Parts: sequence; structure tokens; C-alpha cells
Amino acid sequence: MDLFGDLADRYDLLRSDNPPYLSILLCLIRRFNNKLILDLGCGTGNISEKILKEADVNIIGLDLSASMLGKFNAKRTRASLICASAENIPLTDSSVDGIMCIYLIHLLKEPKRALKSMKRMLNKGWILIVSAPHHFIKKHPLNVFFPSFRDIDLSRFPSEEEIVNWLADAGFSSIETQYCAVFRKWYSQEYLEKTKSRFISTLKLLPEEEFKTGLKKMEKYIENEKEFLPSPWESFVIIGYV
Ligand SMILES: C[S@@+](CC[C@H](N)C(=O)[O-])C[C@H]1O[C@@H](n2cnc3c(N)ncnc32)[C@H](O)[C@@H]1O
Repeated sequence: MDLFGDLADRYDLLRSDNPPYLSILLCLIRRFNNKLILDLGCGTGNISEKILKEADVNIIGLDLSASMLGKFNAKRTRASLICASAENIPLTDSSVDGIMCIYLIHLLKEPKRALKSMKRMLNKGWILIVSAPHHFIKKHPLNVFFPSFRDIDLSRFPSEEEIVNWLADAGFSSIETQYCAVFRKWYSQEYLEKTKSRFISTLKLLPEEEFKTGLKKMEKYIENEKEFLPSPWESFVIIGYV
């Protein structure tokens, strides 16, 4: 199933804010004076575009979905784009300074093997992986409306410990984990509209009936409450070095 192809048109509207891991990426690029970064699973290039505006670096964006890449291409940035799988990267060894994998690792069929081949792409450099921590998946604000949401994500997202072990096994060193969060108004009309458009791939994996019933519950919940406090959207960032 292509979970992302039909999201291409609205993806940037749904992910418009500056994510908290952007500053970590910019620090790495500046600290090591990097020249070429590989953005695996780059999607519409919403992160790459921000990096290209801020840093004197070049980026290769790689994604499996031609429609997501089409949106990236339309931005006319200086990035080069490749339509391919991150599990079979058509680049030569030691050709890039840094690799970013943002919300991609849970979509790979053989992540352990893929990380080994990513390490070969790096001469000296780093890999940065962003994903969702299990403690956050367990308390995700949408769990109250969609009962399977939690288990679908727990079964597909690897834990921080697994990723750290895979990186060590692939030969990365000085592996460090950081947590970041931004506060969001989850129970708002705006977030309801995003949920209706199934902007998170998990929503596409829910049984149809559960999705419809959950949306009704969410609508009622928002109607009946006047004010909801924002709560955190949490990610973890794991960095490994060659
Ligand atoms: C959740 S989106 C993240 C996009 C972007 N990194 C971001 O953070 O906005 C995942 C992206 O990975 C792409 N993708 C899924 N499986 C892939 C694979 N095996 N190789 C390359 N890209 C893949 C999807 O097409 C989609 O664009």
C-alpha cells in the first residue's frame, strides 16, 4: 500500500511548523562544515527546504513516492532528487557527509540491513534518525478516539533501544539519544480537520468503521469542551557517528 502518494498535495499544510529536531540538524551541519547531506524518505522536502535556506550545504533527497518528490521538485531548491528505496540506495560508498532519516525507520522492511548500507554511504560523518518514542505512542492524544491506534504504532515503530543496537551493530559509534517535544492543541477544530484527512499514516491503517466512529467521538468531544490545554508531541533523535 502506498501510504503517502495521495498525501502529497496536502502534506506541507499538515506539517508546516518548524520541527524541534531542525536546530539539531543545523548544528551538526555547521559543526562539521558538511557539504552533502542525504535526506532519506525526504517526502515533499519540508525539512530539506528549511536546511537549504539556513545552511551552505547541498542535499540529495530520496523517496519511494514519485508524487511526494514531485512536490519537492516544484519548490525549485538546489537539492538533487532520486526516486528509489532507502533500502537500495543508488549511490557510491563514502559519498555523503550526513544522512537524515526522519520518520522513515518504521517504514523499512529490513532496517538492520538498510542501516549497514547507509553506513557505507558515509565517508566520515553522521546519521540522524527521528522517530516516535513508545512512551509517547502509549499516551498519544488520538488513542482515546481510535482504540487500535496505539497497538498499530507500537507494532510498527521500533523502540529507541532497538535502533541504538542496530546502529552499534552496523558499526556506528558515540551513539546518543535526545528527546524533544513541542506543545500542540490536539483537541481543536484544526487538528480534527487534519485527522479527517488521515494525515498520519496510522489513520490509514485503522479499520474503516473504527475510523468513522472515532471521528464522530472526536467531533463531539471538541464540541462539548470550551478550552483544552496544549500537550506535547514527542520525538526522539538518535545520532550515530562514523
Ligand atoms: C512520514 S513521511 C516523512 C517525510 C519527511 N521525512 C518528513 O519528516 O516530513 C515518510 C516518507 O518516507 C517515504 N518512504 C516510505 N518507504 C520508503 C522507502 N523504503 N524508501 C524511501 N522512502 C520511503 C514515503 O513515501 C514518505 O514520503
